[in-house]
Amino acid sequence: MSNKMWGGRFSSAPDAIMEEINASIGFDYRFASQDIKGSLAHVSMLAQTGIVTPETAKSIAQGLSQILAEIEAGSFTFSRALEDIHMNVESRLAEIVGPEAGRLHTARSRNDQVALDFRLWIRDTIDQLDRQILDLQHAFAEKALAHAATIMPGFTHLQSAQPVTLGHHLLAYVEMLGRDRSRFQDARRRLNECPLGSAALAGTSFPIDRHMTAKALGFDRPTANSLDSVSDRDFVLETLSAAAITAVHLSRFAEEIVLWVTPQFGFAKLSDRFTTGSSIMPQKRNPDAAELVRGKSGRIIGSLTGLLIVMKGLPLAYSKDMQEDKEGTFDALQSLSLCLAAINGMVLDIQPDLKRLKASAGSGYATATDLADWLVKALKLPFRRAHHVTGELVGLAAQRGIGLEKLSLEEMQKVEPGITKDVFSVLGVDKSVRSRTSYGGTAPANVKSQAKAWLKKLDRLK
Ligand code: ARG
Repeated sequence: MSNKMWGGRFSSAPDAIMEEINASIGFDYRFASQDIKGSLAHVSMLAQTGIVTPETAKSIAQGLSQILAEIEAGSFTFSRALEDIHMNVESRLAEIVGPEAGRLHTARSRNDQVALDFRLWIRDTIDQLDRQILDLQHAFAEKALAHAATIMPGFTHLQSAQPVTLGHHLLAYVEMLGRDRSRFQDARRRLNECPLGSAALAGTSFPIDRHMTAKALGFDRPTANSLDSVSDRDFVLETLSAAAITAVHLSRFAEEIVLWVTPQFGFAKLSDRFTTGSSIMPQKRNPDAAELVRGKSGRIIGSLTGLLIVMKGLPLAYSKDMQEDKEGTFDALQSLSLCLAAINGMVLDIQPDLKRLKASAGSGYATATDLADWLVKALKLPFRRAHHVTGELVGLAAQRGIGLEKLSLEEMQKVEPGITKDVFSVLGVDKSVRSRTSYGGTAPANVKSQAKAWLKKLDRLK
Protein backbone atom coordinates (compact mmCIF):
# COMPACT_ATOMS: atom_id res chain seq x y z
CA MET A 1 0.00 0.00 0.00
CA SER A 2 1.31 3.48 -0.76
CA ASN A 3 1.33 6.17 1.91
CA LYS A 4 -2.22 7.26 2.56
CA MET A 5 -1.19 10.82 3.42
CA TRP A 6 0.74 11.64 0.28
CA GLY A 7 0.59 8.47 -1.85
CA GLY A 8 -1.75 9.73 -4.61
CA ARG A 9 0.76 9.23 -7.42
CA PHE A 10 2.51 6.26 -5.84
CA SER A 11 1.47 2.72 -6.76
CA SER A 12 3.62 0.69 -4.38
CA ALA A 13 4.79 0.88 -0.79
CA PRO A 14 8.31 2.04 0.08
CA ASP A 15 11.17 -0.39 0.42
CA ALA A 16 11.72 -1.47 4.03
CA ILE A 17 15.02 0.40 4.08
CA MET A 18 13.35 3.49 2.64
CA GLU A 19 10.83 3.39 5.45
CA GLU A 20 13.54 2.92 8.03
CA ILE A 21 15.75 5.76 6.84
CA ASN A 22 12.83 8.08 6.23
CA ALA A 23 10.87 7.72 9.45
CA SER A 24 11.37 10.23 12.25
CA ILE A 25 8.51 9.15 14.51
CA GLY A 26 11.02 7.28 16.70
CA PHE A 27 12.22 10.66 17.97
CA ASP A 28 9.86 13.42 16.82
CA TYR A 29 7.02 11.90 18.89
CA ARG A 30 8.41 14.38 21.44
CA PHE A 31 6.75 17.16 19.42
CA ALA A 32 3.26 15.73 20.02
CA SER A 33 1.97 18.46 22.28
CA GLN A 34 3.59 21.26 20.24
CA ASP A 35 2.22 19.76 17.02
CA ILE A 36 -1.30 19.65 18.37
CA LYS A 37 -1.05 23.13 19.87
CA GLY A 38 0.07 24.45 16.47
CA SER A 39 -2.78 22.65 14.68
CA LEU A 40 -5.33 24.04 17.11
CA ALA A 41 -4.13 27.59 16.43
CA HIS A 42 -4.09 26.92 12.69
CA VAL A 43 -7.61 25.52 12.47
CA SER A 44 -9.01 28.29 14.63
CA MET A 45 -7.46 30.83 12.26
CA LEU A 46 -8.83 28.91 9.22
CA ALA A 47 -12.30 29.24 10.68
CA GLN A 48 -11.93 32.90 11.59
CA THR A 49 -10.77 33.76 8.08
CA GLY A 50 -13.63 31.78 6.54
CA ILE A 51 -11.35 29.18 4.95
CA VAL A 52 -13.11 26.33 6.79
CA THR A 53 -16.55 26.35 8.37
CA PRO A 54 -16.90 26.81 12.13
CA GLU A 55 -18.43 23.31 12.36
CA THR A 56 -15.47 21.67 10.67
CA ALA A 57 -13.06 23.66 12.82
CA LYS A 58 -14.89 22.59 15.93
CA SER A 59 -14.84 18.89 15.13
CA ILE A 60 -11.15 19.08 14.13
CA ALA A 61 -10.31 20.86 17.40
CA GLN A 62 -12.20 18.24 19.39
CA GLY A 63 -10.45 15.45 17.53
CA LEU A 64 -7.06 17.06 18.21
CA SER A 65 -7.80 17.37 21.92
CA GLN A 66 -8.82 13.72 22.00
CA ILE A 67 -5.54 12.75 20.33
CA LEU A 68 -3.54 14.74 22.87
CA ALA A 69 -5.38 12.94 25.66
CA GLU A 70 -4.66 9.57 24.01
CA ILE A 71 -0.96 10.43 23.69
CA GLU A 72 -0.75 11.59 27.29
CA ALA A 73 -2.55 8.45 28.46
CA GLY A 74 -0.14 6.27 26.48
CA SER A 75 -2.95 4.69 24.44
CA PHE A 76 -1.95 6.28 21.11
CA THR A 77 -0.32 3.91 18.61
CA PHE A 78 2.56 5.53 16.75
CA SER A 79 3.16 4.06 13.32
CA ARG A 80 6.46 4.10 11.48
CA ALA A 81 4.67 3.72 8.15
CA LEU A 82 3.22 7.18 8.81
CA GLU A 83 6.76 8.60 9.02
CA ASP A 84 6.52 11.38 11.52
CA ILE A 85 4.50 12.99 14.28
CA HIS A 86 2.67 15.29 11.87
CA MET A 87 1.23 12.46 9.80
CA ASN A 88 0.60 10.22 12.78
CA VAL A 89 -1.58 12.89 14.31
CA GLU A 90 -3.32 13.75 11.06
CA SER A 91 -4.04 10.14 10.23
CA ARG A 92 -5.61 9.53 13.63
CA LEU A 93 -7.59 12.73 13.18
CA ALA A 94 -9.07 11.32 9.97
CA GLU A 95 -10.12 8.19 11.86
CA ILE A 96 -11.89 10.29 14.50
CA VAL A 97 -13.34 13.11 12.38
CA GLY A 98 -13.66 11.54 8.95
CA PRO A 99 -12.81 13.20 5.61
CA GLU A 100 -13.35 16.73 6.95
CA ALA A 101 -10.11 16.22 8.92
CA GLY A 102 -8.30 16.68 5.63
CA ARG A 103 -9.13 20.39 5.74
CA LEU A 104 -6.69 20.96 8.61
CA HIS A 105 -3.72 20.84 6.23
CA THR A 106 -5.08 23.70 4.09
CA ALA A 107 -2.52 26.49 3.66
CA ARG A 108 0.29 24.76 5.46
CA SER A 109 2.89 22.08 4.83
CA ARG A 110 4.94 19.79 7.01
CA ASN A 111 7.83 22.14 6.31
CA ASP A 112 6.36 25.07 8.21
CA GLN A 113 4.74 22.63 10.64
CA VAL A 114 8.03 21.05 11.72
CA ALA A 115 9.70 24.47 11.89
CA LEU A 116 6.90 25.59 14.19
CA ASP A 117 6.95 22.48 16.38
CA PHE A 118 10.71 22.68 16.84
CA ARG A 119 10.59 26.37 17.76
CA LEU A 120 7.88 25.72 20.31
CA TRP A 121 9.80 22.76 21.71
CA ILE A 122 13.06 24.72 21.95
CA ARG A 123 11.24 27.62 23.59
CA ASP A 124 9.79 25.32 26.27
CA THR A 125 13.15 23.65 26.79
CA ILE A 126 15.02 26.95 27.13
CA ASP A 127 12.54 27.97 29.84
CA GLN A 128 13.22 24.74 31.75
CA LEU A 129 16.99 25.10 31.40
CA ASP A 130 16.77 28.71 32.53
CA ARG A 131 15.18 27.62 35.80
CA GLN A 132 17.81 24.98 36.33
CA ILE A 133 20.68 27.37 35.69
CA LEU A 134 19.09 29.86 38.06
CA ASP A 135 18.86 27.17 40.76
CA LEU A 136 22.48 26.25 40.22
CA GLN A 137 23.57 29.88 40.49
CA HIS A 138 21.71 30.02 43.77
CA ALA A 139 23.45 26.93 45.10
CA PHE A 140 26.86 28.34 44.14
CA ALA A 141 26.09 31.76 45.63
CA GLU A 142 24.96 30.30 48.95
CA LYS A 143 28.07 28.19 49.22
CA ALA A 144 30.13 31.25 48.28
CA LEU A 145 28.58 33.28 51.07
CA ALA A 146 29.30 30.50 53.57
CA HIS A 147 32.93 30.43 52.39
CA ALA A 148 33.52 34.14 51.81
CA ALA A 149 36.53 34.00 54.15
CA THR A 150 37.71 30.43 53.47
CA ILE A 151 41.27 30.65 52.19
CA MET A 152 42.49 28.42 49.39
CA PRO A 153 45.28 28.52 46.85
CA GLY A 154 44.52 30.30 43.62
CA PHE A 155 46.19 28.79 40.57
CA THR A 156 47.55 29.82 37.24
CA HIS A 157 49.03 27.05 35.08
CA LEU A 158 47.71 24.80 37.90
CA GLN A 159 50.64 26.12 39.96
CA SER A 160 50.01 27.92 43.25
CA ALA A 161 49.79 31.58 42.31
CA GLN A 162 48.18 33.69 45.03
CA PRO A 163 45.85 32.87 47.90
CA VAL A 164 42.18 33.45 47.14
CA THR A 165 38.94 32.78 48.96
CA LEU A 166 36.79 29.77 48.13
CA GLY A 167 33.76 32.06 47.97
CA HIS A 168 35.49 34.09 45.28
CA HIS A 169 36.24 30.94 43.30
CA LEU A 170 32.62 29.78 43.51
CA LEU A 171 31.28 33.20 42.53
CA ALA A 172 33.29 32.93 39.33
CA TYR A 173 30.86 30.17 38.32
CA VAL A 174 27.86 32.30 39.27
CA GLU A 175 29.15 34.89 36.80
CA MET A 176 29.64 32.30 34.04
CA LEU A 177 26.18 30.85 34.59
CA GLY A 178 24.72 34.35 34.50
CA ARG A 179 26.19 34.84 31.02
CA ASP A 180 24.91 31.38 30.06
CA ARG A 181 21.38 32.36 31.03
CA SER A 182 21.58 35.54 29.04
CA ARG A 183 22.78 33.61 25.96
CA PHE A 184 19.78 31.28 26.19
CA GLN A 185 17.44 34.23 26.71
CA ASP A 186 18.95 35.97 23.74
CA ALA A 187 18.40 32.88 21.57
CA ARG A 188 14.83 32.70 22.87
CA ARG A 189 14.15 36.31 21.95
CA ARG A 190 15.35 35.78 18.40
CA LEU A 191 13.51 32.50 17.87
CA ASN A 192 10.20 33.91 18.99
CA GLU A 193 8.78 34.46 15.50
CA CYS A 194 6.15 32.16 14.02
CA PRO A 195 6.91 30.28 10.78
CA LEU A 196 3.39 28.81 10.48
CA GLY A 197 1.72 29.75 7.21
CA SER A 198 4.95 29.85 5.23
CA ALA A 199 3.60 26.58 3.80
CA ALA A 200 5.99 24.48 1.73
CA LEU A 201 8.32 27.37 0.86
CA ALA A 202 6.48 30.10 -1.05
CA GLY A 203 3.59 31.08 1.20
CA THR A 204 -0.02 30.40 0.20
CA SER A 205 -2.82 31.80 -1.95
CA PHE A 206 -5.37 31.25 0.85
CA PRO A 207 -6.33 34.41 2.76
CA ILE A 208 -4.69 33.27 6.02
CA ASP A 209 -3.87 35.54 8.95
CA ARG A 210 -0.37 34.76 10.12
CA HIS A 211 -0.45 37.50 12.73
CA MET A 212 -3.38 35.76 14.36
CA THR A 213 -1.64 32.37 14.67
CA ALA A 214 1.61 34.01 15.77
CA LYS A 215 -0.22 35.78 18.58
CA ALA A 216 -2.22 32.71 19.60
CA LEU A 217 0.99 30.71 19.96
CA GLY A 218 2.78 33.33 22.05
CA PHE A 219 5.14 34.57 19.32
CA ASP A 220 6.11 38.21 18.97
CA ARG A 221 5.30 38.24 15.25
CA PRO A 222 5.23 36.00 12.16
CA THR A 223 8.51 35.36 10.33
CA ALA A 224 8.97 37.70 7.37
CA ASN A 225 10.25 35.43 4.59
CA SER A 226 8.64 32.09 3.79
CA LEU A 227 11.79 30.60 2.24
CA ASP A 228 13.85 31.52 5.28
CA SER A 229 11.11 30.25 7.62
CA VAL A 230 11.21 26.66 6.38
CA SER A 231 14.96 26.42 5.89
CA ASP A 232 16.22 28.23 8.98
CA ARG A 233 17.63 26.24 11.87
CA ASP A 234 19.59 29.11 13.43
CA PHE A 235 17.37 28.88 16.46
CA VAL A 236 18.57 25.33 17.08
CA LEU A 237 22.19 26.23 16.40
CA GLU A 238 22.08 29.20 18.74
CA THR A 239 20.50 27.12 21.47
CA LEU A 240 23.05 24.34 21.02
CA SER A 241 25.82 26.85 21.06
CA ALA A 242 24.55 28.31 24.33
CA ALA A 243 24.27 24.73 25.60
CA ALA A 244 27.82 23.89 24.52
CA ILE A 245 29.24 26.92 26.34
CA THR A 246 27.25 26.09 29.49
CA ALA A 247 28.46 22.49 29.25
CA VAL A 248 32.04 23.72 29.03
CA HIS A 249 31.56 25.76 32.21
CA LEU A 250 30.09 22.77 34.02
CA SER A 251 32.89 20.61 32.73
CA ARG A 252 35.54 22.97 34.10
CA PHE A 253 33.97 22.85 37.54
CA ALA A 254 33.61 19.08 37.27
CA GLU A 255 37.33 18.90 36.51
CA GLU A 256 38.05 20.96 39.61
CA ILE A 257 35.96 18.61 41.72
CA VAL A 258 37.89 15.67 40.29
CA LEU A 259 41.18 17.33 41.27
CA TRP A 260 40.03 18.60 44.65
CA VAL A 261 38.80 15.23 45.90
CA THR A 262 41.99 13.35 45.05
CA PRO A 263 44.03 12.34 48.12
CA GLN A 264 46.88 14.36 46.57
CA PHE A 265 44.95 17.65 46.65
CA GLY A 266 42.62 16.72 49.51
CA PHE A 267 40.81 20.05 49.18
CA ALA A 268 37.32 18.61 49.58
CA LYS A 269 35.24 15.51 50.06
CA LEU A 270 32.17 14.29 48.25
CA SER A 271 29.84 12.09 50.25
CA ASP A 272 28.78 8.56 49.33
CA ARG A 273 25.85 10.14 47.51
CA PHE A 274 28.07 11.39 44.69
CA THR A 275 30.88 8.86 44.58
CA THR A 276 31.32 5.22 43.67
CA GLY A 277 33.69 2.55 44.90
CA SER A 278 36.01 0.35 42.92
CA SER A 279 35.26 -3.34 42.53
CA ILE A 280 38.91 -4.21 43.12
CA MET A 281 40.53 -1.35 45.07
CA PRO A 282 38.73 -0.95 48.41
CA GLN A 283 40.34 2.42 49.23
CA LYS A 284 38.83 4.18 46.21
CA ARG A 285 36.08 6.74 46.19
CA ASN A 286 35.61 7.84 42.64
CA PRO A 287 33.91 11.10 41.59
CA ASP A 288 32.03 9.44 38.71
CA ALA A 289 29.25 12.03 38.54
CA ALA A 290 31.78 14.82 38.08
CA GLU A 291 33.68 12.80 35.49
CA LEU A 292 30.46 12.16 33.58
CA VAL A 293 29.57 15.85 33.56
CA ARG A 294 33.03 16.46 32.12
CA GLY A 295 32.49 13.65 29.61
CA LYS A 296 29.02 14.69 28.53
CA SER A 297 30.29 18.08 27.43
CA GLY A 298 31.76 16.11 24.51
CA ARG A 299 28.42 14.95 23.15
CA ILE A 300 26.84 18.38 23.69
CA ILE A 301 29.58 20.11 21.72
CA GLY A 302 29.33 17.27 19.19
CA SER A 303 25.62 17.96 18.60
CA LEU A 304 26.39 21.57 17.79
CA THR A 305 29.13 20.75 15.32
CA GLY A 306 27.00 17.91 13.90
CA LEU A 307 24.13 20.23 13.04
CA LEU A 308 26.43 22.96 11.70
CA ILE A 309 27.77 20.36 9.29
CA VAL A 310 24.28 19.14 8.32
CA MET A 311 23.24 22.69 7.48
CA LYS A 312 26.30 24.03 5.78
CA GLY A 313 25.70 22.65 2.30
CA LEU A 314 21.93 22.96 2.04
CA PRO A 315 20.46 25.12 -0.72
CA LEU A 316 17.17 26.88 0.09
CA ALA A 317 14.64 25.81 1.07
CA TYR A 318 13.79 22.58 2.96
CA SER A 319 15.77 19.38 2.38
CA LYS A 320 15.24 16.13 4.19
CA ASP A 321 18.76 16.40 5.61
CA MET A 322 17.14 18.78 8.06
CA GLN A 323 15.35 15.90 9.75
CA GLU A 324 18.81 15.17 11.20
CA ASP A 325 18.45 18.31 13.31
CA LYS A 326 16.51 16.59 16.06
CA GLU A 327 18.17 13.61 17.71
CA GLY A 328 21.43 15.38 18.53
CA THR A 329 19.49 18.35 19.88
CA PHE A 330 17.27 16.22 22.10
CA ASP A 331 20.29 14.36 23.36
CA ALA A 332 22.33 17.51 23.98
CA LEU A 333 19.66 19.43 25.85
CA GLN A 334 18.62 16.44 27.89
CA SER A 335 22.27 15.80 28.77
CA LEU A 336 22.74 19.42 29.74
CA SER A 337 19.72 19.27 32.02
CA LEU A 338 21.15 16.18 33.69
CA CYS A 339 24.57 17.82 34.08
CA LEU A 340 23.00 20.90 35.68
CA ALA A 341 21.16 18.70 38.16
CA ALA A 342 24.29 16.68 38.95
CA ILE A 343 26.47 19.75 39.50
CA ASN A 344 23.76 21.28 41.66
CA GLY A 345 23.76 18.15 43.80
CA MET A 346 27.55 18.18 44.09
CA VAL A 347 27.73 21.88 44.98
CA LEU A 348 25.40 21.18 47.91
CA ASP A 349 27.20 17.97 48.83
CA ILE A 350 30.87 18.91 48.63
CA GLN A 351 32.63 19.54 51.94
CA PRO A 352 35.79 21.63 51.70
CA ASP A 353 38.65 20.76 54.04
CA LEU A 354 39.36 24.22 55.47
CA LYS A 355 42.65 23.33 57.18
CA ARG A 356 44.06 21.68 54.16
CA LEU A 357 42.98 24.50 51.87
CA LYS A 358 44.60 27.10 54.08
CA ALA A 359 47.83 25.17 54.49
CA SER A 360 48.02 24.65 50.76
CA ALA A 361 47.28 28.34 50.14
CA GLY A 362 50.51 29.25 51.90
CA SER A 363 52.68 26.74 50.09
CA GLY A 364 54.55 27.37 46.86
CA TYR A 365 55.50 30.94 47.89
CA ALA A 366 51.99 32.12 47.12
CA THR A 367 52.54 35.38 49.01
CA ALA A 368 55.57 36.39 46.94
CA THR A 369 53.48 39.00 45.10
CA ASP A 370 52.51 40.50 48.47
CA LEU A 371 56.17 40.77 49.37
CA ALA A 372 56.95 42.48 46.07
CA ASP A 373 54.01 44.86 46.55
CA TRP A 374 55.30 45.66 50.07
CA LEU A 375 58.72 46.55 48.67
CA VAL A 376 57.02 48.94 46.25
CA LYS A 377 54.81 50.53 48.88
CA ALA A 378 57.19 50.65 51.88
CA LEU A 379 60.57 51.14 50.15
CA LYS A 380 59.29 52.86 47.02
CA LEU A 381 61.17 50.39 44.80
CA PRO A 382 60.05 50.21 41.17
CA PHE A 383 57.90 47.06 40.73
CA ARG A 384 60.40 45.37 38.39
CA ARG A 385 63.19 45.82 40.99
CA ALA A 386 60.85 44.58 43.75
CA HIS A 387 60.01 41.54 41.60
CA HIS A 388 63.73 40.79 41.27
CA VAL A 389 64.44 41.16 45.00
CA THR A 390 61.50 38.93 45.82
CA GLY A 391 62.72 36.38 43.32
CA GLU A 392 66.07 36.24 45.13
CA LEU A 393 64.35 35.85 48.50
CA VAL A 394 62.15 33.05 47.16
CA GLY A 395 65.26 31.37 45.77
CA LEU A 396 66.95 31.62 49.15
CA ALA A 397 63.94 30.19 51.00
CA ALA A 398 63.53 27.41 48.44
CA GLN A 399 67.18 26.48 48.78
CA ARG A 400 66.66 26.04 52.50
CA GLY A 401 63.29 24.36 52.03
CA ILE A 402 61.39 26.87 54.16
CA GLY A 403 58.58 29.38 53.72
CA LEU A 404 59.26 33.08 53.02
CA GLU A 405 58.06 34.05 56.50
CA LYS A 406 60.71 31.74 58.02
CA LEU A 407 63.61 33.75 56.59
CA SER A 408 65.22 35.95 59.24
CA LEU A 409 65.28 39.72 58.90
CA GLU A 410 69.10 39.62 58.58
CA GLU A 411 68.90 37.14 55.71
CA MET A 412 66.40 39.37 53.94
CA GLN A 413 68.47 42.50 54.50
CA LYS A 414 71.45 40.83 52.83
CA VAL A 415 69.36 40.86 49.65
CA GLU A 416 67.72 44.27 50.21
CA PRO A 417 69.12 46.35 53.09
CA GLY A 418 66.01 48.57 53.37
CA ILE A 419 63.72 45.72 54.48
CA THR A 420 62.31 46.16 58.02
CA LYS A 421 60.50 43.74 60.33
CA ASP A 422 57.28 45.26 59.07
CA VAL A 423 57.62 42.94 56.07
CA PHE A 424 56.39 39.99 58.12
CA SER A 425 52.99 41.58 58.37
CA VAL A 426 52.26 40.85 54.68
CA LEU A 427 53.60 37.33 54.50
CA GLY A 428 50.52 35.54 55.90
CA VAL A 429 47.77 34.25 53.63
CA ASP A 430 45.04 35.92 55.71
CA LYS A 431 46.62 39.32 55.24
CA SER A 432 47.16 38.59 51.60
CA VAL A 433 43.51 37.89 50.78
CA ARG A 434 42.22 40.64 53.06
CA SER A 435 44.36 43.17 51.22
CA ARG A 436 42.85 42.38 47.80
CA THR A 437 39.98 44.81 48.05
CA SER A 438 40.10 46.15 44.49
CA TYR A 439 36.72 45.91 42.73
CA GLY A 440 36.17 42.26 41.81
CA GLY A 441 39.08 41.17 44.01
CA THR A 442 39.17 38.21 46.38
CA ALA A 443 38.98 39.98 49.79
CA PRO A 444 36.39 38.30 52.07
CA ALA A 445 34.50 41.58 52.48
CA ASN A 446 34.13 41.89 48.69
CA VAL A 447 33.05 38.29 48.35
CA LYS A 448 30.50 38.60 51.09
CA SER A 449 28.83 41.62 49.56
CA GLN A 450 28.93 40.14 46.03
CA ALA A 451 27.44 36.85 47.20
CA LYS A 452 24.69 38.73 49.01
CA ALA A 453 23.98 40.90 45.98
CA TRP A 454 23.72 37.80 43.78
CA LEU A 455 21.41 36.03 46.22
CA LYS A 456 19.16 39.05 46.35
CA LYS A 457 19.01 39.23 42.57
CA LEU A 458 18.44 35.47 42.20
CA ASP A 459 15.71 35.42 44.83
CA ARG A 460 13.93 38.16 42.90
CA LEU A 461 14.07 36.06 39.71
CA LYS A 462 12.92 32.82 41.36
N1 ARG B 1 9.81 14.71 9.51
C1 ARG B 1 10.19 15.84 8.76
C2 ARG B 1 11.38 16.55 9.44
O1 ARG B 1 11.59 16.30 10.54
C3 ARG B 1 9.06 16.79 8.61
C4 ARG B 1 9.12 17.65 7.38
C5 ARG B 1 8.94 16.81 6.18
N2 ARG B 1 8.87 17.59 5.00
C6 ARG B 1 8.96 17.07 3.79
N3 ARG B 1 8.90 17.88 2.78
N4 ARG B 1 9.17 15.80 3.59
O2 ARG B 1 12.06 17.35 8.85
